[in-house]
Amino acid sequence: MLPYKKIAVALCLFAFMAIGMAATRPADPARPASQTADRIFKNLKILPKDISKEDLGKTMDLWKNALGVKCGFCHAPTADSTSHHLDFASDAKPEKNIARHMYKMTAKINKKYFSFNKDEQGNTMPAVACMTCHRGSPHPEAK
Ligand code: HEC
Ligand code: HEC
Repeated sequence: MLPYKKIAVALCLFAFMAIGMAATRPADPARPASQTADRIFKNLKILPKDISKEDLGKTMDLWKNALGVKCGFCHAPTADSTSHHLDFASDAKPEKNIARHMYKMTAKINKKYFSFNKDEQGNTMPAVACMTCHRGSPHPEAK
């Protein structure tokens, strides 16, 4: 009876280790190439180049809602005028570059004036966000 128990325990331990290793493996080689940001996003200058599709989408939704605009407020339409799609990688609309400046400014404000604002892990909590000033308008100064 005892040897079987030992084998069972050993197998359980091995299974846990395997699961743990799979979960903590930093760069999963099995991840499809289509999910590596370099291939999806062509023109990132301020956001992490390896940002996931999901996180980029969340960021865009935050900005969109903070300013109370649609994606086309910052993103230029595609050259093909018969399609109503946006050319997300294009920098043709000045609003896109203003947004980059705003992003850097916001990060600077947080770093310089709110660095005391840390969570238990010691990460700085962003006290100021786009919404803090914009409150659903592209022109907060005009409200
Ligand atoms: C307030 C301006 C703003 C709004 C609104 C906005 N974006 Fe963006 N978007 C940007 C900026 C700035 C970048 C580039 C970020 C960088 O340089 O790291 C970007 C980058 C992107 C990219 C990556 C393009 C590439 O290949 O480099 C995609 C995709 C995108 N936005 C989609 C969207 C969608 C979809 C919406 C609407 C839900 C949206 N954006 C709304 C400013 C905006
Ligand atoms: C400290 C306050 C503050 C924060 C934080 C802030 N903004 Fe702004 N933003 C402003 C003000 C004020 C203006 C208007 C400037 C002007 O009229 O020239 C503006 C203008 C803009 C514009 C241009 C609007 C237009 O019609 O030309 C964009 C785009 C923009 N902000 C995006 C952002 C994004 C994205 C964030 C977060 C990453 C952000 N802002 C964070 C204060 C702020």
